[in-house]
Amino acid sequence: MNRTILVLNGPNLNLLGKREPDIYGHTSLDDIRRATEERAKTHELTVDFRQSNDEGEIVSAIQSARTDARGIIINAAAYTHTSVAILDALLACDVPVIELHLSNIYKREEFRHHSFVSRAATGIICGFGAHGYELAVEAMAHLIGKEDAS
Ligand code: DQA
Repeated sequence: MNRTILVLNGPNLNLLGKREPDIYGHTSLDDIRRATEERAKTHELTVDFRQSNDEGEIVSAIQSARTDARGIIINAAAYTHTSVAILDALLACDVPVIELHLSNIYKREEFRHHSFVSRAATGIICGFGAHGYELAVEAMAHLIGKEDAS
């Protein structure tokens, strides 16, 4: 049985640790990937961890999750607030989707308060920094466990 979850990261998240650390923290994306994989392992889940600055590449990764993943954790970064294409790709997926942000987007500028991704998400985790990735894995393991039990 497929136990892979796709963890997708959008534009500029490759700069984590160096980029606006007062907002996004000092942890690099590579450190986050390691912690995410470790946490997933405790639930016998495998992580396909990706980052792209390219909207089309993110859409294609979501499309491949339709057959290759049990769930999607997505931090679409700035595309969260702009991309109907990412929303449509997520809506075409029949797997649970968790929207994730390091920062609390509702405490920030008004243009960050609207998320296209939310319309396709089972739930949202935001404002917990790098730890949010581990929280998202816990939530995803719970959702997959419920699916397996039914
Ligand atoms: C972000 C929040 C977005 O508004 C922003 O464009 C990002 C990162 C976050 O993780 O807090 O790039 O998704």
